[in-house]
Amino acid sequence: MKALITAGGKGTRLRPITHTRNKHLIPIANKPILHYAIEYVAEAGIRDVGIIVNADTEDVQKAMGDGSRWGLRIRYIPQQAPLGLAHCVKISEEFLGKEPFVFYLGDNMVVGGIRRFQEEFLARKSNCHLTLARVKDPERFGVPEIQGDRIVRIVEKPKVPASRYAVSGIYFYDSTIFEAVNAIKPSARGELEISDAHQYLLDHGRKVTFSEITGWWKDTGLPDDLLEANRLILDHIEANDPKDAAVDGESNIAGKVILMPGARIINSNIRGPAIIGARTVIENSYVGPYTAIAEDCLIRNSEVEFSIVLAHCAIRDIGIRIEGSLLGCDTTLERARAKPRTHRFVLGDQGMVEIA
Ligand code: TTP
Repeated sequence: MKALITAGGKGTRLRPITHTRNKHLIPIANKPILHYAIEYVAEAGIRDVGIIVNADTEDVQKAMGDGSRWGLRIRYIPQQAPLGLAHCVKISEEFLGKEPFVFYLGDNMVVGGIRRFQEEFLARKSNCHLTLARVKDPERFGVPEIQGDRIVRIVEKPKVPASRYAVSGIYFYDSTIFEAVNAIKPSARGELEISDAHQYLLDHGRKVTFSEITGWWKDTGLPDDLLEANRLILDHIEANDPKDAAVDGESNIAGKVILMPGARIINSNIRGPAIIGARTVIENSYVGPYTAIAEDCLIRNSEVEFSIVLAHCAIRDIGIRIEGSLLGCDTTLERARAKPRTHRFVLGDQGMVEIA
């Protein structure tokens, strides 16, 4: 079995972070989102992996390499423009050949990995095996209409959803999917829709089966999704033995906290689950649950909770707790020293600030 993972697309909903960084390289619990997909695929015993990348940059290739660190062989498949998920499958036909494969959207995360779905797909000898997750907002997704134990119809982003399920971004196919992706036409938004390919399979009497995802599953399309995925992953971490980190006698570390090498905690309270990146300094501060702070940051005289802070950020003397925030690399937040005391912003396009 092979795997096809997506790492292209525009990531418009995660701007401004995605102005300078591919969405799949944003860290969740200090590890790029794409690593999770790659690890799930490796765990499932798959060795040959195709990754769809935007044709105009090599950032994913540079970050992931040839796959050997996971025991995988990675082939990068450039997509000239984000023309849809079914387009991703279509341009990968030569790589996938006749083998069954998992099509995994590289911005999806699922607890427990994909092995149990893979086993069900293989055991049931389906042409297509979908994974369904119960969600609050099905209208954001492809939604199945289910009768008994059969899917009878799938509608992409319906105004009135036929069920509370979303078709998650983890699909299993045999080579009949190419019949579908080669037959369907672009939708009104100009994309080859994967839901249309699934509907084609249903209309042509192919065997479409499904599993329900009973644990958590997250599609990390929006900033709040990243915070939620970060929370869910941090919930499952184990504290490490911070032998290469320095914690002074005035500091208190409670709960599950990972301190990376060179991290320094000075007169501060860290309440896990949290992860503090390499060489990051936390001084006279509080870091609360569900916070991931990347490497080479400084948090001084401030409080941060339920947030993701990327590398090389500085947060100094902020008098109110920072919560539910996502800071891109090299961001500085600090209290104005000069009078008059004003709010002063240097924000990238599509930035967002909420002042208490
Ligand atoms: P989406 O979240 O649907 O699209 P996007 O990543 O471009 O984000 P936004 O809507 O915020 O602009 O994509 C789901 C996954 O598929 C994600 O891994 C990106 C990837 N993708 C491609 O690689 N090529 C494509 O043509 C499309 C549409 C998505």
